[in-house]
Amino acid sequence: MNNTSIANMKRTDMCGVLRTADVGREVIVNGWVDRVRDNGGVLFLLVPDRSGIIQCTFDKSVDAELFNIAFTCRTEFVVAVKGKLVARDAAAINKKMPTGEVEVVASELRILSRAETTPFEISDDKEVGDAIRLKYRYLDLRRPSMQRNMMLRHRVTQVARNYFDEQGFLEIETPMLTKSTPEGARDYLVPSRVHPGKFYALPQSPQQYKQLLMLAGMDRYIQITRCFRDEDLRADRQPEFTQIDLEMSFVEQDDVIAVNEGFLQRVFKEVLNVDIPLPLPRMTWQDAMNRFGSDKPDLRFGFEIKDISDIAAKCSFKVFHDTVENGGSVRLINVNGYADKFPRKEIDKLGEFVKTYRAKGLAWLKLAADGSMTSSFAKFLSEEEIEAIKQRADAKPNDLLFVVADADWETAVTALGALRCELAKRLGLAKKDDYKLVWIVEFPQFEYSEEEDRLVAKHHPFTAPMDEDIALLETDPRKVRAKAYDIVLNGCELGGGSIRIHDPELQTKMFRALGFTEEKAKEQFGHLITAFQYGAPPHGGLAYGLDRLCMLLAGLDSIRDMIAFPKVQNASDLMMQCPDVVDAKQLDDLSIAVTRVEKTEE
Ligand code: AMO
Ligand code: AMP
Repeated sequence: MNNTSIANMKRTDMCGVLRTADVGREVIVNGWVDRVRDNGGVLFLLVPDRSGIIQCTFDKSVDAELFNIAFTCRTEFVVAVKGKLVARDAAAINKKMPTGEVEVVASELRILSRAETTPFEISDDKEVGDAIRLKYRYLDLRRPSMQRNMMLRHRVTQVARNYFDEQGFLEIETPMLTKSTPEGARDYLVPSRVHPGKFYALPQSPQQYKQLLMLAGMDRYIQITRCFRDEDLRADRQPEFTQIDLEMSFVEQDDVIAVNEGFLQRVFKEVLNVDIPLPLPRMTWQDAMNRFGSDKPDLRFGFEIKDISDIAAKCSFKVFHDTVENGGSVRLINVNGYADKFPRKEIDKLGEFVKTYRAKGLAWLKLAADGSMTSSFAKFLSEEEIEAIKQRADAKPNDLLFVVADADWETAVTALGALRCELAKRLGLAKKDDYKLVWIVEFPQFEYSEEEDRLVAKHHPFTAPMDEDIALLETDPRKVRAKAYDIVLNGCELGGGSIRIHDPELQTKMFRALGFTEEKAKEQFGHLITAFQYGAPPHGGLAYGLDRLCMLLAGLDSIRDMIAFPKVQNASDLMMQCPDVVDAKQLDDLSIAVTRVEKTEE
């Protein structure tokens, strides 16, 4: 009775794989009891494991003792069941279960471990709060959907390993304890005991190491590795996340793109059985911003942005006219065919929505099905001006135009870009199983940082400028475009990379453009500068956010569900209950004095 070992009860089969072809065999299955159903003298135990679920039956009239043991089983007990696999009677066949045509007629049952009542029912049909799911993550992971997520993630990493191996990439590990460098997110620091007052940083990515591996002659590198960034979290951001990180020598942008298109095609085929036609489309950053108001455009739906600044400049509506006169821009989108879905009240709410993207207002023009017009601004315009706008927008009956005027063109397009995504979401136009991949190329080399009041690298300081723009580095750096590329899927940045600078002289120019003095550059990046003096091959690479790739392949909205043990919004781990305080002795060993401690809520 108390035998909880698996001696003589060694598993023969996983639960979910048993089929009619196995009928007649004696099988032993293991799993967590899902449900116990007493059907008057016949007891049904539903036993799931990672592979699926099987029904096991216990007949009192055949073996009363065995029946009574089975009767003590509760949900989540861990059991081993031995028995003969039989075909179910026609009336008992369950078409909803892959194993629904068979069942195990039990001859032996061993309870391997008992379970208390779990804090929530382990089922995909029950809504459970995030906090409780994450506190008991091992129970949450027992749910079939979470097990599928982990299996999908495993498949994706196997495809990556196999594919890049076939393409001649070497898997090489790089350190987790490394050096804090500027440019990028905030670092996670690790104090050194041996060197009081000094710190390692956890890597934000293996960027410098992988470049050094190219200098080392490794030719092609890949690593599936953890990266750490202390930034504000969102649905698609975690403080520690995983990259499929790669780098290649003697290549140009087209070579990196070609290898990665092969990978993406393979992943979609092997994981989802979806065919991705190659080559993938490419769009310049400027185009993506002008047409979609985003550097990660969602191409599953239209509502493209159009520029009406030329028409606006001549009109007498002050908001439009003055904006253009002062160097700003007026842009619109046409929510074509959906005007009837947006009553006035909804439109006013959308005005509030765009304000969160710093737009100052949202002008609109609505054409009813009969062609009659209502508008927030038409009264300020002449008939010809309205006609010109309608023409530019290709407006037809039941269309709705939204216009944003702003002193800064980027604010105007960004607000409309966010609006078009929001509208598509509300209208259900963004289908999860419609996969629209696009490369965004020709990114600006720099962006202006308000916080630092200087230009910072948009990608990172080792990214090569486009050849034709090198001269602009010293004269007009804001116009320099980089050999940088992002791969975007359905409005999400899956990955990004660039061709790197391999010429020390150009790297010096780049540091100068970023406002580094020679000393500061040496202090921060001296090891790289030195390394590049001993023969650097032309090289470039890319890194995918593995969690994001898996999230989109699984059709989910949060990367949390693709990570076994994720952190919550405030970067804590609810299961392990960390971060946490440590012993005074530990701090003393590290020569660290704590000046402030967060109050822990009870
Ligand atoms: P980048 O910073 O663009 O490039 O990162 C590459 C990809 O990693 C994913 N990602 C994240 N995923 C989850 N949580 C986060 N906090 C997070 N931050 C980034 C994104 C992103 O596209 N070293 C360069 C790559 C290179 O140049 O080769 C790099 O790290 O999907
Ligand atoms: P008003 O004259 O203030 O009633 O504005 C007329 C319309 O112009 C309203 O629909 C406002 O939301 C809109 N509006 C105001 N400022 C802007 C702007 N910067 N861009 C687009 N529309 C605006």
